[in-house]
Amino acid sequence: MKKIYLLIVIFCATLVPKCLSDERTPFCDVCACLNQTLTNPDVDCSSKIVSSILFDAKLWFNKDKNKTYDISSLNLQSIDLGILNDTFPDSNLRKLDLSNNAIRFIADGAFANLEEMEELILSNNRLQTIGPDVFRGLRLDGYDYPLKALTTLRLDNNEIHTLNPDVFQHIDREIKILSLAHNPFKVFDQQTVIAITSVVTLEELDLSYTQLKELPQYFLHTPQYLKKLDLSGNLLTAIPETLEDAHVLEELIMNNNTIVNLTQETGFPIVKTLKRLHLCNMPVLEEIGQHSMSGLENLEELYISENIALSTVHYGTLVRLDVENPVWPRIKKLIISNNKLTHLNSTFLAKWDYLTELDIRGNPWTCECENQWMIDELMPLYVGLNVAQAKEIKCAAPIEMEHQTLYDIYQMKSVMRCLDLYGNRPEKDGAILIGILIGILIGIPLVLFILYSYQRNWYGIFDHSPAAYSRQFYRAPSLGDDGRL
Ligand SMILES: *[C@@H]1O[C@H](CO)[C@@H](O)[C@H](O)[C@H]1NC(C)=O
Ligand SMILES: *[C@@H]1O[C@H](CO)[C@@H](O)[C@H](O)[C@H]1NC(C)=O
Ligand SMILES: *[C@@H]1O[C@H](CO)[C@@H](O)[C@H](O)[C@H]1NC(C)=O
Ligand SMILES: *[C@@H]1O[C@H](CO)[C@@H](O)[C@H](O)[C@H]1NC(C)=O
Ligand SMILES: *[C@@H]1O[C@H](CO)[C@@H](O)[C@H](O)[C@H]1NC(C)=O
Ligand SMILES: *[C@@H]1O[C@H](CO)[C@@H](O)[C@H](O)[C@H]1NC(C)=O
Repeated sequence: MKKIYLLIVIFCATLVPKCLSDERTPFCDVCACLNQTLTNPDVDCSSKIVSSILFDAKLWFNKDKNKTYDISSLNLQSIDLGILNDTFPDSNLRKLDLSNNAIRFIADGAFANLEEMEELILSNNRLQTIGPDVFRGLRLDGYDYPLKALTTLRLDNNEIHTLNPDVFQHIDREIKILSLAHNPFKVFDQQTVIAITSVVTLEELDLSYTQLKELPQYFLHTPQYLKKLDLSGNLLTAIPETLEDAHVLEELIMNNNTIVNLTQETGFPIVKTLKRLHLCNMPVLEEIGQHSMSGLENLEELYISENIALSTVHYGTLVRLDVENPVWPRIKKLIISNNKLTHLNSTFLAKWDYLTELDIRGNPWTCECENQWMIDELMPLYVGLNVAQAKEIKCAAPIEMEHQTLYDIYQMKSVMRCLDLYGNRPEKDGAILIGILIGILIGIPLVLFILYSYQRNWYGIFDHSPAAYSRQFYRAPSLGDDGRL
């Protein structure tokens, strides 16, 4: 029924020009066209009825005008295509969305006629393999049949575990943004490495949730324009060493990986270009250690939040000592919210006033003198950046401060108590008490022994002075058996 209706509409649209605008693609009669007034609509065809007539030339080509219809973008989500065994007709569309179609096969050259397509979305399908000619374009002298406008390719949420080494051969000088996220790669075999690194123009690569335990050696050596790398949701237990091969990497997203202890060994190599680092949602991260980020000399934004086990961030995490004077990166945005931090040393950053954004909420800060600098130095800055947030920072310890905020203390200009200064910190008291007790236990018998032995004049044995002699002579009489003298 629907199909007949569609055909009538299409018939009407194509043969009776007055019936509807003859400039507009008949897609607009069956799909939602945004930007209706324009002749270059964004077509939203995310409904199943279109799949049976999708490749019908009438939808794409305007016979009266002898030209293709203008389409700005075409959304073909969720129309149950399953296989793509046809070639898309000529079109000037710039964006094609084929996500959610259970696509498991794409024919060679299926997109060859879409010479102006800049973005191709194949997310959420069932692709396992993609042939080396799927992304073939039309012949262009000097090039190898490129899809010459394609800069963004999304292949996330498929079933890919390996790539044909030549899969990107026709688009390896075009693609800037490539997503392979949520595919079950587990490891990058040699041919997958070749496929990815062959894309010389790559600027953004999304490898999140690909079950990777590590990145291959030298993986980042070839893509010399790579600016952004997403490695979230993998099983990495250390920062990949190949980061040191990166040429212009500016942003690294390492959220939700299985690093426990970020040390100088498991931490960052020198990556001079890195500006933004995300280390959030790390389920087992406990400690960020000394010099683990010293290699990030030009870091500007640091996001370390939602790490439920993170209790220690070493004051020397960022500082670099291999030069004459210690050097810190100039951090502008520091987001360390919702971790388990109790204190932070002010020498974590060299100058806190470079900050334009700060968030330290959701940590169990201790309101004792080790954090006094937060009241004296950080609060005035924080208030300047974001008063509302600054007021939210709570004390989690000691018990009697639990209902206070750092802001309250800052307002009262009070000095937080310094338990260890007065020597009455419980754990230290314990040691002192035990010390005293041992002293007493050993001391008393010793003193008694000395007194007793003095009284008995055992020392006189070695004493040959006249006084001693006479002492010996006039020795105190001892008690007789009957208790009398
Ligand atoms: C409509 O077209 C304008 C200009 O071409 C574009 O900026 C805008 O994003 C389009 N609207 C939608 C919803 O795509
Ligand atoms: C249609 O246009 C093409 C070039 O765009 C031309 O070669 C062809 O002869 C035209 N056909 C008709 C019927 O006008
Ligand atoms: C695609 O179509 C060709 C013929 O047009 C056919 O031989 C082939 O089996 C089809 N492939 C699939 C996967 O259906
Ligand atoms: C982290 O990644 C695992 C899979 O590696 C996933 O199951 C989990 O939902 C992710 N957690 C968050 C907070 O995204
Ligand atoms: C982390 O590593 C450092 C240095 O190797 C070590 O001193 C520390 O105890 C480790 N911490 C944890 C929680 O494993
Ligand atoms: C902060 O770190 C410095 C070393 O850079 C150390 O001397 C100082 O005692 C630390 N302060 C606190 C409160 O832990």
